[in-house]
Amino acid sequence: MIETVATKPFDDQKPGTSGLRKKVAHFSQPHYAENFLQSIFDVAERGPGATLVIGGDGRYFNRPVIEKAIRMAAANGFGRVVVGQNGLLSTPAASHLIRQRKAAGGIVLSASHNPGGPDGDFGIKYNIGNGGPAPEAITEATFKRSRTLQEYKISDAPAPDLSVVGETTIEAMVVEVVDPVADYAELMQTLFDFGKIRALIAGGFTLSFDAMHAVTGPYAKTILEGLLGAPEGTVVNGVPLEDFGGGHPDPNAVHAAELIARMMGPDAPDFGAASDGDGDRNLIVGRGIVVSPSDSLAMLAADIQRAPGYTQGITGIARSMPTSQAADRVAAKRGVKLYETPTGWKFFGNLLDAGMVTICGEESAGTGSDHVREKDGLWAVLLWLNILADRKESVKAVVEGHWQEFGRTYYQRHDYEEIDSKAAEGLMGSLRDRLASMSGQRFGTLVVSEADDFSYKDPIDGSISTGQGVRILFSGGARIVFRLSGTGTKGATLRVYIERFEPDAAKHDIAPQEALSELIDTADVIGEITKRTGRSAPDVIT
Ligand code: G6P
Ligand code: ZN
Repeated sequence: MIETVATKPFDDQKPGTSGLRKKVAHFSQPHYAENFLQSIFDVAERGPGATLVIGGDGRYFNRPVIEKAIRMAAANGFGRVVVGQNGLLSTPAASHLIRQRKAAGGIVLSASHNPGGPDGDFGIKYNIGNGGPAPEAITEATFKRSRTLQEYKISDAPAPDLSVVGETTIEAMVVEVVDPVADYAELMQTLFDFGKIRALIAGGFTLSFDAMHAVTGPYAKTILEGLLGAPEGTVVNGVPLEDFGGGHPDPNAVHAAELIARMMGPDAPDFGAASDGDGDRNLIVGRGIVVSPSDSLAMLAADIQRAPGYTQGITGIARSMPTSQAADRVAAKRGVKLYETPTGWKFFGNLLDAGMVTICGEESAGTGSDHVREKDGLWAVLLWLNILADRKESVKAVVEGHWQEFGRTYYQRHDYEEIDSKAAEGLMGSLRDRLASMSGQRFGTLVVSEADDFSYKDPIDGSISTGQGVRILFSGGARIVFRLSGTGTKGATLRVYIERFEPDAAKHDIAPQEALSELIDTADVIGEITKRTGRSAPDVIT
């Protein structure tokens, strides 16, 4: 029986960059999750012909919310729900399933790389029929609906057993529990030369994949240890845990320190990688070398045609504005267009749908292509392996070869976390006020050639996004970008992105901190970081 439950609106259900993210305790308030789900359903396309995909990264609170979502989808008239076994679906696998099943959309339960468990974070995100995150018009409509919601609909029947693959019905809706890995693994086999990668591994190439006790464990085990024949133990921390084993499932130098240490040690395997909570980010490490995400994008773009799914080459490349300009040099050499978008994967959706770009990436450890509409961690790992198998070279040789051919873009991101929000706004405001007079100014050997506040006009729908970060360009191609994070939860996070181009191969062996030292000092002078925030050094450098 369908029940209509009276509720009161919450005033804080505004979706951020990646859906609604809150502490588990916040989400556990009576009716909180139900209200947000009803707001999504009221805006979404639904009806007996509509399919909804549901899955999450396995974190604490996933299962009760998935069960509620199924009972509410049945009450709201969906024809079919496709849900991953045990409620698991990585974000890229969910994106694929939405596209493959021509679903109306999908509910992805995740807080990405944020910690999980009863004291951790939880999130609900709505993806649309193209498999990508809902655009702003839809998230705005959802928020608006949440402000007036007075009731929600839910079936009083229990949700089916999610551990059993197969079909059941609840009210008039079919619930199909699917293997979360199978369709995704099949898609990967259409894109990459599994035979070649298998032969590479059989020939003694060693690898280590850190799943960080998050959702990619079963995917990596099936694909790397199963289909590609890597020995058992290749996937470490491969069992998804509700609290990620107490860790922070973010594949960066700080949280994936264990993997990086292994890759720098005397017994390092040939290749190392990690992914995040929901499987969309990636970290690539070679023996003795960490590949920065901006470099990885450029290197994958330069060699993607070696993979069977991309033999046609690329139609274009997109990167977020603060991502280094290494990819621009690949686009220029290949004679394709480079699109510079604001931070956030959703800005790539229209370009991918229109076939204007084949590959996209962000400095925040995201890379992906037109195969889905989310970034895809394991996809990046497999593309790297395909390239290595084809080139028969080490990661280090590929990286250094790329620098030799395209030049090296030295790059660092400096994060100042939990700074006072007023101080952060003041810093950005002051920069904006000085933009007009900045051109031509000299700082040591550096001369400002251009300075602006980045804005983007979507070439497909014409929508305009302003205030996306202050860019200061110097003659010679060096660049400093100042931007406030859109994903922080406490105070403000100032991100300063610093880069410099070095064409001379004899100068490709400098430590980034040293290669960028003049720019780092200049960033403090121009941004007045120490003066305004009281911080003399960043909290994290990536
Ligand atoms: C999320 C988004 C990315 C974005 C990243 C960093 O992971 O999916 O698209 O690049 O956050 O965002 P921030 O605003 O914190 O720099
Ligand atoms: Zn993620």
